[in-house]
Amino acid sequence: MKGPVTCRRRGPIRGSFEVPGDKSVSHRSLLFAALAVGETRVRGLLRAEDVHSTWKAVERLGARLREEGDLVVVTPPARLGEPDDVIDCGNSGTSLRLLAGVLAGVPGLSVLTGDASLRRRPVKRVVEPLRRMGGILEARDGDRLPPLVIRGQRLRGTRHVLAVASAQVKSAILLAGLSADGETVVEEPALSRDHTERMLRRMGADISVDGLRVTIRPSGLRGGEVDVPGDISSAAFFLCAAAGLPGSEVTALGLGTNPTRTGLLDVLRAMGADVEVVNERESAGEPRADVTVRGSGLEAVTIEGAMVPRLIDELPVLMVLATQAEGRTVIRDAKELRVKESDRLLVMGEALAAAGARIELFDDGCAITGPTPLRGTSVRTRMDHRVAMSMAVAQLFAAGHEVVLDDVACVDTSFPSFFPILDRLSEGA
Ligand code: S3P
Repeated sequence: MKGPVTCRRRGPIRGSFEVPGDKSVSHRSLLFAALAVGETRVRGLLRAEDVHSTWKAVERLGARLREEGDLVVVTPPARLGEPDDVIDCGNSGTSLRLLAGVLAGVPGLSVLTGDASLRRRPVKRVVEPLRRMGGILEARDGDRLPPLVIRGQRLRGTRHVLAVASAQVKSAILLAGLSADGETVVEEPALSRDHTERMLRRMGADISVDGLRVTIRPSGLRGGEVDVPGDISSAAFFLCAAAGLPGSEVTALGLGTNPTRTGLLDVLRAMGADVEVVNERESAGEPRADVTVRGSGLEAVTIEGAMVPRLIDELPVLMVLATQAEGRTVIRDAKELRVKESDRLLVMGEALAAAGARIELFDDGCAITGPTPLRGTSVRTRMDHRVAMSMAVAQLFAAGHEVVLDDVACVDTSFPSFFPILDRLSEGA
């Protein structure tokens, strides 16, 4: 969908939906499969532009991908080769940063770039640790921004202490460590999503986890089966809408419930929402469940510290939900929001203020006082899918007023079926 879109739905929302595949797990399944020996069969891969960027990148590195019914089968190359062209990662920070970790150790020259949004996002956070491992990398504007040029080298295992909890940086280092000489150690200040650690272990890597410290030794991977759980970061839009609209009841089927990702469910409960988790199971090393949220009166909460990496991508829609909660919701320690697909604190802060929210911005977060009935507004989505979807949810709290989104093409980066599901759940009410 391109061009401006006018949202004029009415809550509550009701019904169930199959949650599309997790974006983080989908990227990793294709990339790690390309590094393995033997085929990997991926079930439930997210079909969205970001994952397509990784798909095209691994093909450029020599992997072959084919669809077999609802499976994607990845056949790795005998060995990863120098890409014959620049790799365009589109809007996808995960593709660019994880590929940097792999390519730092692959002989040859690689250039990673992306769209205007990605070319504004920081890469020094991967350039510096990879250089310490002996990698030769250079980026634009004093190594701050893509494009990123990599001259693949033999790397050496090194110990890294990260200043921010970032799964992308952690994963880039671990992927570099797979082919480095000796042991590579990464320590995070708080636990970020651990899909890389889980998947590498299942594929045979010599990896161990001790609290916030991950150690990897050079190892080969073997292909196998990956079953991608539903993406909580996508389901979040409907779970939050339901939580804030009394009379709503929404069930997310097959939702990934990896504890490094379920901060949203903890916060919804703390706000007073009715959250029910049933049918808990584990598939291919990742837990999942069916999760129902029912709307009710909500209370303000504080979100800070180690909670933040467990719900970093859900903060824009939680900012929307906070406008409906009684009291002052405070979000702190979330400076990372400023370097996502947009400066999400600024962009969401402006959009919510224009919709009538009482919001105060800090360098690392915000405070939102509610409850406030929102009003119609026009939003610049700034190539940020989660801003567009969050403000579509905000419209449900605007009692029938219209919210105009200037461009929703960005929604296709992570959730092409977002608007059809929203329409179905609205009609279900
Ligand atoms: C991701 C990690 C997070 C998250 C991003 C996906 C991943 O970013 O915001 O959407 O797949 O590793 P950071 O690692 O930069 O925190």
